[in-house]
Order: sequence, then structure tokens, then C-alpha cells
Amino acid sequence: MKTLFNLRALIVALGMSALASQAQEVFKIGLILPMTGQQATTGKQIEAAARLYMAQNGDKVAGRKIELIIKDDGGMPDAAKRIAQELVVNDKVGVLGGFGLTPLALATAPIATQSKTPMVVMAAATSIITEASPYIVRTSFTLAQCSVAMGDWAPKNGIKRVVTLVSDYGPGIDAERFFKERFLLNSGQVVESLRVPLRNPDFAPFLQKVRDLKPDALFVFVPSGAGAAVMKQFLERGMDKAGIKLIGTGDMTDDDQLNDMGDGALGVVTSHHYSTVHPSAVNKKFVDAFKKANKGMRPNFMAVGGYDGMRVIYEALKNTKGGQGGGDALLAAMKGQIFESPRGQIFIDAQTRDIVQNIYLRRVEKKDGELYNVEFDVIKEVKDPGKTK
Ligand code: PHB
Repeated sequence: MKTLFNLRALIVALGMSALASQAQEVFKIGLILPMTGQQATTGKQIEAAARLYMAQNGDKVAGRKIELIIKDDGGMPDAAKRIAQELVVNDKVGVLGGFGLTPLALATAPIATQSKTPMVVMAAATSIITEASPYIVRTSFTLAQCSVAMGDWAPKNGIKRVVTLVSDYGPGIDAERFFKERFLLNSGQVVESLRVPLRNPDFAPFLQKVRDLKPDALFVFVPSGAGAAVMKQFLERGMDKAGIKLIGTGDMTDDDQLNDMGDGALGVVTSHHYSTVHPSAVNKKFVDAFKKANKGMRPNFMAVGGYDGMRVIYEALKNTKGGQGGGDALLAAMKGQIFESPRGQIFIDAQTRDIVQNIYLRRVEKKDGELYNVEFDVIKEVKDPGKTK
């Protein structure tokens, strides 16, 4: 009898210590980001936002200490995949996050699937990404969401003939396709579709061609970080003075660069999901704290994708009592999340694991001596129009 009792006590004690050790065990989040190379600003913005989220919400969730591991993929898909493998196998991360470019997300997707690790895409924005693995959840946006909004706005505002100019890879091809489809439906005409290389693009010959074609407007998609070069060359060629308007998705008038683009950017209209001056109390608090923690740096749409991505991870950890049930349970707890982001209300569609959010029309204006994307219209709760199933 006595030995039986002791045995039971031992089992209970062992069970309790297993629970306690799980509670103390560190939960690792591995962010794979371009910290060097052409997309380095994306890495910098997302890292700053993730660190801010942790500073504001603590580094303990459901009794587990959170460790953030940040790795630089240099914008190279092979590197992103190799790093993901190392993070899963060696570091035993519970969640992968980041992904500054579509090819980086697509290269990593099989690792998430094989290891059953939730993968939170905080930046990349080609529609197809969420279909590359059932473990992918997205907190950024899609080019299809934004481009459709511009395809509706432009023809209602006197723009009938357009040339499109996009970076020649996933998100650019989505932007071109979804803008064009909607624009044609609204009786617009796309006179030419130009694609520029993603790496080290020279916009000059393309812009010369646009000048010769003399459309009402040039529709542009280039990834975050490349907008200033387009703007500079557009203005240098006097294309605005020749009566060609510049429109596009908000990647071009990226808040990270906008203030350095000069007054030539004034009046440019874009469609996007986030502006630094989005008028809400939640955003004001976010922007003030972000600037304070980062020597006055403005958060851009990449920062918001990272900030919300961390929130999705934290909430999933809370709802699974610190990640009990592993990757599948965490993934289930990410699906269907709904909350107010600095960009407005968002939710993670449980079916597609993609983000549903407002898309805003914005015009570049000067406020207190600085350039901003000022929102003047909104299309509410936009689902990704680019899903194939
Ligand atoms: C992407 O590669 O998916 C991407 C990168 C930067 C953007 C938009 C999309 O601004």
C-alpha cells in the first residue's frame, strides 16, 4: 500500500515538473529577413516593429519566455530556405516569420509544411504564397487587393489611357493583371505593359518609352525601397509636366522614403493598406512609440506587417496555453483572429489564412513640412481577389 502511494506521488510530481518545465521552456520565434542588400529597409522596419511589440507586451506569454531570433537572408531564396531549416532543426523555433520578398517565402514554404511549423508572412505579397503551404498565415497584404482598388478609382477620375510598369516577378505580375482586369472592366485602356527586372533596375529606357506613348497616367508597382528611384527619374524626365500622372500601389510612395522624394511627389495617388498618418488612436500610439524607439524613423507598411504578425503569434500562444499541441494547435489559433491594427480592423480568414483588410486611396500631401500619404477614401474589408481556390 505504502509503495503504491509513493508511486502515485512520484507520478504526480513528475507530471507537475513536466508542466513546470514546459512553462519555463523558452519559446523561440525565428524571423528570416533581408537585413542586407536591396531589401534591407524591409528587414530594418520589421525588426524594429517586432522588438517594439515585445517591449510593449513583455517577453513572457502564458508563462513561457519568448526569444526572438533574427537571421539575415540577404534577399536570397536559397539562404532563406537553409536558414529556415537550421532554425527548425537546430534552434527548435516554434514559429517562423518575416519573408521580405515573394521568392523567399516560396522557397521556405516546404520547410514549414514538412516540419508543421506555422510560418507568418509579414511582408511578401503575391497572392499565391498562402497556397504554397497550409502552415502559412499572412499579415502583410496582396497586390491584388490594392491594384483592384486603383482599377476602380482611376477611370472615375479622368484617367482613360494607362501604361503599366511593374517589377518583373510575382507581386508585379499580380499588380499588372489585377489593375488591368478591373481597369478594362471600367472601360479603361492599357496601351502598354512594361516589366523591369527586380535586381538593379534601370528605369530610364522604360520611362522614355512611356513618355513617347503619352498616356493619361503611368501605373507603377515596385517593391518597398525602389520607389524613390522611379519618382526621381519620372520627375527628371519632366513627365509630370508633359501631363502624365503617376499612380500605383502604395509601395511606390513608401513612408520609409517618401519624405526624401521632394515636392515633385505631391499629388501622387496610390492605393494601399497602411499610411503612417492613418487617423486612428491605435495608429497614433504605434507611430509615436515606433519613432521614439528608433531615432525618429517612420514606420512603413512593412513595420505594420511585422507588428501585427507578432500579435498574431502572441495571441496564438495565449490561446494554446503556451503552445500546447505544437504547430498545428498554434496554426489553428492563428486562423480567424480579428483585431484593430494600426492600419484599421483586420482579420485572418480561417479558410485562406490570408489577411482581410481595408484598402485606402491616398494622395501625397505636405503636413507640417513633411510629405505623407493622406487617406481620402476607403474600400472596407477587402479579401484577396487573387485566390485560385
Ligand atoms: C514581394 O516580394 O512580395 C513584395 C516585396 C515588397 C513589396 C511588395 C511585395 O513592397
